Amino acid sequence: MKIPQLRILATTYCGRRCIYCRPTGEGIPCESSNINIDTVIRISKLYKQYGGNEIKFTGGDPIFWDGLSKCIKILKQEVQIENIEIITRSPTIIDYIPNLISSGLDKLDFSLDTLSPTKHKQITGIDDLNELIDAITQCVNIGVKCKINTVVMNWINREEIFDLICWAEKIGIRKIKLLDVITDLHDDSSYKNKKYLYDIYNKTLQDLYVPLSEISQDLRTKSISERLIFQGGLGHPMNCFKLESGLEVIVKDHHNGAWYGELCISCVKFPCHDALMALRLTSDEKLQFCLLNENISLDISKLDERSLVSVFDNILDVYRKAFFVPSVE
Ligand SMILES: C[S@@+](CC[C@H](N)C(=O)[O-])C[C@H]1O[C@@H](n2cnc3c(N)ncnc32)[C@H](O)[C@@H]1O
Ligand code: SF4
Repeated sequence: MKIPQLRILATTYCGRRCIYCRPTGEGIPCESSNINIDTVIRISKLYKQYGGNEIKFTGGDPIFWDGLSKCIKILKQEVQIENIEIITRSPTIIDYIPNLISSGLDKLDFSLDTLSPTKHKQITGIDDLNELIDAITQCVNIGVKCKINTVVMNWINREEIFDLICWAEKIGIRKIKLLDVITDLHDDSSYKNKKYLYDIYNKTLQDLYVPLSEISQDLRTKSISERLIFQGGLGHPMNCFKLESGLEVIVKDHHNGAWYGELCISCVKFPCHDALMALRLTSDEKLQFCLLNENISLDISKLDERSLVSVFDNILDVYRKAFFVPSVE
């Protein structure tokens, strides 16, 4: 059965301006906002009723939402969600981690694209690589299940991917995910991040794209086993290579094809880089099918309970009926 991961966009704020991202991160461009905790609980209860058990807090950076710990506790204890994750790139996570763990956080994803402080500042706009690495190391050492997410970029970090993998092995990380660049997030020419990318590297997002097949081929020769992962039975099938050290390297390559819904067929971006990989609840109370098309999201802020149930059922139906499209070119 196909049930998407529920991604909660806790806040639009992150304090950075990563060169490949939008001003509002995963969310459709909107006024800056923080999510309402009651909305998260309401949607999560419905999601649970439909069999959903995978919730990830993202944003912006979820660590800057002051309801995070309380919300995780309720989702764990009252809604009984099995797996709750956070994705962050803020070193300040270290101040909150004891509380988050005691609230029931299961896993922590860190975004980290380089081991060079200069490049890290160029990529993210903030000069805090050492603090971030320190926070990751401390989290691993106290036994938090941590994964690293790395966007692989031509000209910028392509050549250091295997150094990052070795570093992850050395500090005891169990999983690292390599992602290909989603090239169509900078459609709006007014995005400042697009300008930063051009000013710093004299490149566009399309220039940064590098197919991950070569890296997968290298990993194949270095690994002891390989399997395919389907998150929630949806999204892009990802190759997962297990190295001798036990580290798993997951490769998200949009050339592997993806699961799509009926509503994707009429989209101008179909077949795209995001596809139906998750259901997102935005901080301004919309349910959003994908990262790329703002026209296919549903405003739930004014819905009464009955209408919400019916809307939610229709939305999940799109995922249940998803179909696989072998490759996108
Ligand atoms: C939007 S961020 C939100 C969470 C948090 N602010 C962070 O950076 O980890 C979630 C993930 O999306 C990734 N991302 C953003 N723009 C991307 C792009 N154009 N292509 C691939 N991944 C991207 C980031 O690297 C990060 O791992
Ligand atoms: S990827 Fe960077 S700019 Fe985008 S939400 Fe995360 S920290 Fe902010």
